[in-house]
Amino acid sequence: MGTSLSPLLLLFLFLSASPLQLALSEPTQDRVALLSFITQTPHENRIQWNTSASACDWVGVTCDPNRTAVVELHLPGVGLLGPIPPNTLGSLSSLRVLSLRSNRLTGTIPDDLAGLSVLHGLYLQDNLLSGPIPTSFARLGRLSRLDLSGNNLTGEIPFAINNISRLTTLFLQRNKLSGSLPSISIDSLAGFNVSYNSLNGSIPKSLSRFPDSSFVGNLALCGDPLPPCNPFFPSPVPSPGSVQNPAGKAEKKKKKLSTGAIVGIAIGSAALLLFLILAIFLCLAWRRRGRQRKEKEPKVESTAAIGTRSGETGMTSSSKEEMSGAGGATAAERNKLVFVGRGGGYSFDLEDLLRASAEVLGKGIVGTSYKAVLEEGTTVVVKRLKDVVASKREFETHMELLGQVEHQNLLPVRAYYYSKDEKLLVFDYLPAGSLSSLLHGSRGSGRSPLDWDSRIRIALAAGRGLAHLHSSEPRLAHGDIKASNVLLRSDLDTSALSDFSLSPLFGSSAPPSRVAGYRAPEVLETRRPTPKSDVYSFGVLLLELLTGKAPNQASLGEEGIDLPRWVQSVVREEWTAEVFDVELMRYQNIEEEMVQLLQIAMACVALVPDARPDIADVVRMMEDIVNRTAEGDDTSKAGGSGGPTPPSAPTP
Ligand SMILES: *[C@@H]1O[C@H](CO)[C@@H](O)[C@H](O)[C@H]1NC(C)=O
Ligand SMILES: *[C@@H]1O[C@H](CO)[C@@H](O)[C@H](O)[C@H]1NC(C)=O
Ligand SMILES: *[C@@H]1O[C@H](CO)[C@@H](O)[C@H](O)[C@H]1NC(C)=O
Ligand SMILES: *[C@@H]1O[C@H](CO)[C@@H](O)[C@H](O)[C@H]1NC(C)=O
Repeated sequence: MGTSLSPLLLLFLFLSASPLQLALSEPTQDRVALLSFITQTPHENRIQWNTSASACDWVGVTCDPNRTAVVELHLPGVGLLGPIPPNTLGSLSSLRVLSLRSNRLTGTIPDDLAGLSVLHGLYLQDNLLSGPIPTSFARLGRLSRLDLSGNNLTGEIPFAINNISRLTTLFLQRNKLSGSLPSISIDSLAGFNVSYNSLNGSIPKSLSRFPDSSFVGNLALCGDPLPPCNPFFPSPVPSPGSVQNPAGKAEKKKKKLSTGAIVGIAIGSAALLLFLILAIFLCLAWRRRGRQRKEKEPKVESTAAIGTRSGETGMTSSSKEEMSGAGGATAAERNKLVFVGRGGGYSFDLEDLLRASAEVLGKGIVGTSYKAVLEEGTTVVVKRLKDVVASKREFETHMELLGQVEHQNLLPVRAYYYSKDEKLLVFDYLPAGSLSSLLHGSRGSGRSPLDWDSRIRIALAAGRGLAHLHSSEPRLAHGDIKASNVLLRSDLDTSALSDFSLSPLFGSSAPPSRVAGYRAPEVLETRRPTPKSDVYSFGVLLLELLTGKAPNQASLGEEGIDLPRWVQSVVREEWTAEVFDVELMRYQNIEEEMVQLLQIAMACVALVPDARPDIADVVRMMEDIVNRTAEGDDTSKAGGSGGPTPPSAPTP
């Protein structure tokens, strides 16, 4: 066996039932094509394809599970030199991904690549390729990602690109493409870049949804999102209304003057009207606000009133009395808000909390959370627990324990209140919200997507917090890992896990996690979260970051299928590229990292608890991805032929 299994093949081994399947069959035809390619193309000697070994074990080559065909070829930054020999790679009929980026390939792009009928990704960026974009590429019906940026390509962008109906990214920046932009209208297109070419003319409407940085640096491109095309210069399409005869010109001028006057009068009266409307509106708003404030006052949402307002059965009138201190001298003692850990830094009491105005943040498994703004201005989160079975003593001991947990990636409890009928927990309030709202909130409506770097930093922060819990003394399990419990800070590296280790309060009768989708399968029986079940939930969280899909989302195809099973099925049938969040498709050169994180995630969601890695190992592997990226960036910035090494290819 060769030592250089590619990440995708490894991934497949995770997923396939038995690795023993690896009978030594050989993709005979593809092998011939690969050898023909490599012998005609000078390269660095770190590609040492051993002709006595199977082609499936060669550096950069990935085969299908039966080892009968080559499905991916990744040779980035290995010093490939000269033209791509025709009729070599074009014969790899099962090829899904071809990456020859960051080499020194010259000459034209061979036409025969268009014969790769199942190709999903073609990455030829950062070479010295010249000549036109082959129009035959229109035949690549399954192509999803096409990256030809950073070459020396000339000619026009073929209109026939419209035939590639599944295209999600088209990167053509930093070439010498000329002519005008064809009207490319492919619905699935999520990433588009033609900046730094020699294009001219106006930007077609179908492309104006992309940012200006997709178009800058061209000879004379104009129109939305770039500055408008100047109507006084000859435009490529003369506008139908333009008048040619000089006699008409004078008439037009005269007309223009009178239009100017009309416009002036119109603007003047419009402004006056606007001013009047504004004044009336302000007046009304002022009065309404006053009325609203009056209406609101009797029912300012205090934490004490919330129970009755939301129709929950939780709070009886006697407990309300007790909470508001009407229960007598003994109650006063009992009504104390107990601060734990660094919560001692706060200076409010239960009274203040009850007077605070509150707003529901969310209803979770353990109870309802409120954002409470105290009169002094402090904002905290109050969690009203339901179905607590722990005794007062157990409750206090556990809270003291949790209050001691200090880590930048964990959000510990600051204070608690325990009475027979009411149990409250107080936490710091983080205004930036949760990962769940950032990832799934108002998708599509022009929000800025969560980029890859941010996603992996948030994942690392959550992982580090979890690792701290698992290594604390006594060892704590989180028990409720999900995207809405990952709270963000402006420095994403200090994002924090909240709501940890509360399950001991609820005993084994209550399900520890009612959020299907994140729950490890064994927890359904044992009802006890463990560090291993946390790792499962963390794996689901990673899948959520990679796919952009919420684990409890109904739209995962078949009913009742969970995210891990969905990813497995897609990877098995359609291969990896299809599972990733389309919002990530606009970033370049991250596919290998995404595949690595996907591998880690899939290891975490193994059905057998013992097969899952420890969170400490998971964090280490994620740190490796981040560090390797940083190094890769350095080497590619340093220029030269050596781009980032494919992770599948340990340099000999
Ligand atoms: C090539 O592969 C054969 C069989 O796998 C092995 O015996 C041999 O040592 C390899 N040669 C090199 C140069 O790696
Ligand atoms: C790019 O192409 C032009 C002609 O099309 C050629 O003159 C130039 O040398 C090429 N540049 C590189 C870096 O290959
Ligand atoms: C387009 O490419 C240019 C040059 O590489 C880059 O500066 C710009 O950010 C890219 N824009 C988009 C939207 O990808
Ligand atoms: C755009 O450039 C092409 C040559 O690249 C030229 O033939 C055409 O006239 C130009 N169009 C405009 C509107 O400048």
